[in-house]
Amino acid sequence: MNRTHHCGELSPKNLGQNVTLVGWVSKRRNFGSIVFIDLRDREGITQCVFDESLSESIKDVRNEYILEIKGEVILRKDANPKISTGEIEIKVSSFTVINQAELTPMIIQDETDALEDTRLKYRYLDLRRPVMQKKLIQRAKIVRTMRNFLDENGFIDVETPMLTKSTPEGSREYLVPSRVHEGEFYALAQSPQIFKQLLMVAGLERYYQVARCFRDEDLRADRQLDFTQIDIETSFLDENEFHEIIESMTKDVMKKVLDIDVKTPFLKLSYADAMNFYGSDKPDNRFDLKLNELKDVFKNSEFQVFKSALEHKDGSIKAIVLENGAHFTRKETDALTEVAKKNGAKGLVVLKYVNGIIEGPASKFFVESEVSSLIRTLNLKENDLVLITADKWEKAANALGSVRLALRDKLNLTSKSDFSYLWVVDFPMFEYDEDSQKYVAKHHPFTRPKTTDIQYLKENPAEIMAHAYDLVLNGYEIAGGSLRIYDQDMQKAMFEMIGFTDEQINERFGFFVDAFKYGTPPHGGIAFGLDRFAMVLTESDSLRDVIAFPKNASARCPLTNAPSAVDEKQLNELHILIDNK
Ligand code: AMO
Ligand code: AMP
Repeated sequence: MNRTHHCGELSPKNLGQNVTLVGWVSKRRNFGSIVFIDLRDREGITQCVFDESLSESIKDVRNEYILEIKGEVILRKDANPKISTGEIEIKVSSFTVINQAELTPMIIQDETDALEDTRLKYRYLDLRRPVMQKKLIQRAKIVRTMRNFLDENGFIDVETPMLTKSTPEGSREYLVPSRVHEGEFYALAQSPQIFKQLLMVAGLERYYQVARCFRDEDLRADRQLDFTQIDIETSFLDENEFHEIIESMTKDVMKKVLDIDVKTPFLKLSYADAMNFYGSDKPDNRFDLKLNELKDVFKNSEFQVFKSALEHKDGSIKAIVLENGAHFTRKETDALTEVAKKNGAKGLVVLKYVNGIIEGPASKFFVESEVSSLIRTLNLKENDLVLITADKWEKAANALGSVRLALRDKLNLTSKSDFSYLWVVDFPMFEYDEDSQKYVAKHHPFTRPKTTDIQYLKENPAEIMAHAYDLVLNGYEIAGGSLRIYDQDMQKAMFEMIGFTDEQINERFGFFVDAFKYGTPPHGGIAFGLDRFAMVLTESDSLRDVIAFPKNASARCPLTNAPSAVDEKQLNELHILIDNK
């Protein structure tokens, strides 16, 4: 084709030029015998004017037809400052219809009221909307910037298998039946974790990969079944040296993609501080509303809720103060109580400080010294609202952390175009799993503990800290990683700690433990959740906005209708019998 310009390109600089554009009809307006058509391509929109001489031939052209138009760039009478080409228009001399289009099931404009399933079913139309194209373009820029940075800094791009063996990343995996080996299964990689560590044993020193990962998770706005990691691993670096590289890369992305200068080094918060002050292991620190601890104030409380919380060894009473929040209605505080309950609390104690008095259903249980100590500890002022959860430490903190975020959203305390990075470090190595009554690795079992004493590991598992870190942006965990164990005995001890028998270790990870015998360098790495990173940087509300063909909230692809039933013949080949009971 003879396209001379894109639809987002022309300006008064081009006045008088004869140009050829191609694109989709985005909008058509008739003024008597004159027709205005907004022609749209990837780069923008240009207004084209068809006069009487063309009115007959343009008569049948509808939205989303593809046209090639030829004409002269002229000045527009009423400039449209909203679009880049708003000062000019094309006086069309001739045009060709390249293809026709039926009436589309959704309107192709930035603003849409189409249901999400309609958008996903006709995703190729949804992606024709300029906002969506911009997001995919931004995402591509993020990947390109990261790739360029990593290439320039000595990282080698290596692909690792997707069809593999189970890896202990912790989520449920997808199994793929083997046709050749009856009754045996591959697992789809949850991440390249094991392979990237083996690449360090192999001596590659610096690796990266744009890796597709598969996890059979319950979907949320920030989770998909197949998603993409920018996966990274290095040898011979300590935690700080490694973090500096990741910070430089992040800084580069912010500059090149959004033209924003972010300050490095990023703030580092320990897991304990993150939980204590923000009630989250991925704190949004763009606004204050920090959590306070009240267990000293209420250590002798007769209020059953506080009393039973403090009977736990790690019992805690967490409080948030909302300045001038006393005007909140019952309905509003009930909604906050629901948030707390949904996030694991048994309830939410609501107090108001009005006319010098602490009011609220729980206040009748407080003695005078507790009231004055409460006012002092929280530094309460007239008309403050106090919200309290009491439980085991992590539970109380988590639930109130969710209430904190609900207040952020309710009161619009943040702006999406404000970006705040921080590291969460010093994670505990293990967490106790109530269901299975045993310790599980909090990150994954390859993470290096901050002790080399295996004995200590066994005696005091809850106390052991890990060389693990998460990179957090605006309350989202956009990356997570750790330094790894590189000692065979330590790795074995770790597997034993989380309840693998020798036999299981050999069967599942024998090849991995074996590899450590032959000279394993100290190593560590990280993986960025690319989808999440792109979601936050494009100010989107859902991962689905930055993934071309995502699954919907019920784990389906409305476009292809996957998952779907398969032929009997295919099942037979795979030695699978469906039990319809
Ligand atoms: P982790 O499991 O923390 O670590 O994953 C790394 C990052 O991937 C993103 N992420 C997801 N994004 C979308 N949908 C999902 N279902 C999903 N699950 C995770 C998150 C997360 O921070 N192998 C380790 C990394 C390492 O130790 O180097 C790993 O996979 O942004
Ligand atoms: P109850 O005694 O169950 O009627 O609870 C009295 C008040 O305390 C109610 O407002 C509950 O929402 C609240 N509450 C109950 N359990 C907890 C808890 N563990 N933490 C905070 N508030 C609670």
